[in-house]
Amino acid sequence: MDDVPPGLAEHPDRLRWNAKYGDAPALSSAHPLAERALALPLPDGGVLDLASGPSGSALLAAAAGRRVTAVDISEIALDRLGAEARRHGLDSLITPVQSDLGAWLPEPPGYALVLCTGFWDRSVFERAARAVLPGGLLGWEAFTEDVRRDRPRIPAEWCLAPGEPASLLPDGFTVLHEADDPRTAKRRLLARR
Ligand SMILES: C[S@@+](CC[C@H](N)C(=O)[O-])C[C@H]1O[C@@H](n2cnc3c(N)ncnc32)[C@H](O)[C@@H]1O
Repeated sequence: MDDVPPGLAEHPDRLRWNAKYGDAPALSSAHPLAERALALPLPDGGVLDLASGPSGSALLAAAAGRRVTAVDISEIALDRLGAEARRHGLDSLITPVQSDLGAWLPEPPGYALVLCTGFWDRSVFERAARAVLPGGLLGWEAFTEDVRRDRPRIPAEWCLAPGEPASLLPDGFTVLHEADDPRTAKRRLLARR
């Protein structure tokens, strides 16, 4: 990535995740939600991968011929994604955006698929849902409050409350799939607009 955007240099999320990625494997595999969503009918349009990390999901979507916008606060994650995209000849399809999702706004006209796995923020979810094109899909996975039984240091605001995120979907969405995994204390949602 080019220079770190103003305002992110000391951002605690950036510092924390850059430190984590310093020791992590180069790329995460494509998320099962991405695999599931990309196998379903989708309208024309791009894919938005929020809190993408060094995302195998973004690569999978690009390999399926979709333009992908990958947003993350960590330049280490986005640089790794960029390197892997170049290795596969997919870099022209992937636009990395280094941004704090708390302040980020999706660009019109919207996306055929909006995906976010491993991140939770209610206001981001609401903006993300509005960025789904008619007929498009929204895929999300995040911790539920159950995770705090074993990992009490995870803040409650990073966790889905009962019924979320489906309860926060705007009118016009249909839930296609919703499942809790008690082993990981994560909930998964796939919904069509
Ligand atoms: C648990 S990882 C998930 C990565 C990927 N989506 C996956 O499923 O493997 C969380 C990601 O959220 C990003 N992140 C954390 N806080 C953020 C913020 N405020 N704005 C943008 N990205 C953020 C981190 O850099 C990290 O890549």
